[in-house]
Amino acid sequence: MNAKLTPAPAPPGLDAFWMPFTANRQFKANPRMLARAEGMNYWTADGREVLDAVAGLWCVNAGHGRREITEAVARQLQTMEFAPTFQMGHPSAFELANRLVEIAPPGMERVFFTNSGSEAVDTALKIALAYQRARGVATKTRLIGREKGYHGVGFGGISVGGIVNNRKFFSAAMIPGVDHMPHTYDLEHNAYSRGLPPWGAHLAGDLERIIALHDASTIAAVIIEPISGSAGVILPPVGYLQKIREICNKHDILLIFDEVITGFGRIGSPFAAQQFEVTPDLMTTAKGLTNGAVPMGAVFAQRKIYDAFMQGPENAIELFHGYTYSAHPIACAAGLATLDIYQREGLLRRAASLAPRLENAVHSLKGLPNVIDIRNYGLIGAVELEPRAGKPTARAYDVFLKCFERGVLVRAAGDVIAVSPPLIVEEKQIDRIFEVLGQALRETA
Ligand SMILES: Cc1ncc(COP(=O)(O)O)c(C=O)c1O
Repeated sequence: MNAKLTPAPAPPGLDAFWMPFTANRQFKANPRMLARAEGMNYWTADGREVLDAVAGLWCVNAGHGRREITEAVARQLQTMEFAPTFQMGHPSAFELANRLVEIAPPGMERVFFTNSGSEAVDTALKIALAYQRARGVATKTRLIGREKGYHGVGFGGISVGGIVNNRKFFSAAMIPGVDHMPHTYDLEHNAYSRGLPPWGAHLAGDLERIIALHDASTIAAVIIEPISGSAGVILPPVGYLQKIREICNKHDILLIFDEVITGFGRIGSPFAAQQFEVTPDLMTTAKGLTNGAVPMGAVFAQRKIYDAFMQGPENAIELFHGYTYSAHPIACAAGLATLDIYQREGLLRRAASLAPRLENAVHSLKGLPNVIDIRNYGLIGAVELEPRAGKPTARAYDVFLKCFERGVLVRAAGDVIAVSPPLIVEEKQIDRIFEVLGQALRETA
């Protein structure tokens, strides 16, 4: 872990930084500055310790300040700060791809690097479209997403995504030919389920309706999050993902899993695909790939998809896509060091053994004021609150603030409080997170 550093002084002014996904005026009136991090904790600029119950933003899976990652990045910076991967290569890019394939779901033997989850999503959608064309089925151009889905903020991602605020301002620029399956959120049937909800596998059948409407010959791919995170932790009903897979197989449609939050051990296996025993054709990842230390994303592809591109003259570029910083050497160094830690410390499976503790802790909040549902899986917990009349999201925000004041960082997503601690979390820290959340709920009208 890092030696203690003196916190940076507060910046002179807050105006210039246009903050992402933030109520800028509200934040700038009452800023919350993080200055240092180590293990399970952040420290604020004024020196207060804060237990990180959200792994930064679902990404710091091995905990903060991991010396191996810092050192690997420093070494790489000193050796070669940048190398292009267009028509050139550098060893750690190939090594990282090989190492990722070793922990990937069956058959996912090819890896395309990006710099974020959003870029991974847009890359996967483009690969899906180009694949259909490469294998001679150029009519397959439609993409199917899902209501309440979050796939980042690129135009492809918001088009297949299903969160209205992320879409409505950009409606004129949505990519054409997209349709959406229904979400699986249903409190009437599934409230307070522990783990996967029992009701709702039949909702996968709606994909058949969409296919009947558009015809399978027009559909390239279906993209879903195995567990929706940003929409407030929505779990797949038992049997749902299997059914989606079967329907995609039946109609020769690619299945893309967006594993940007479920990847890298969050739910007890390296990827949700393995946990749920459903193998997609393409898989998007980011966040935990480098422990959040350096921006990086990766799209995993089944071998057959890559192979379909490897035709034509050998001097021809097979996929006209890529980023200047695809497989950036610094990100690769961080990724390799991160995988070493995950493997040495068994972190990619650790969530499975801690899940029962988190499940009991989060469900102990049932009955507290304004709680209308509790959901959990692996090291993810969520408490849904009754929205204040006419003021959606305000109550969860107040609970988030109260937790922060008491030294625990949770995440408010709409009217849901989400918890997703680093995978190094100890049982006592799980208890503390939910104890503080419970106090905050009691104090928030
Ligand atoms: C499922 C999913 N896909 C894509 C993204 C976008 O990732 P990024 O913010 O790195 O672009 C996120 C981010 O939270 C996500 O949860």
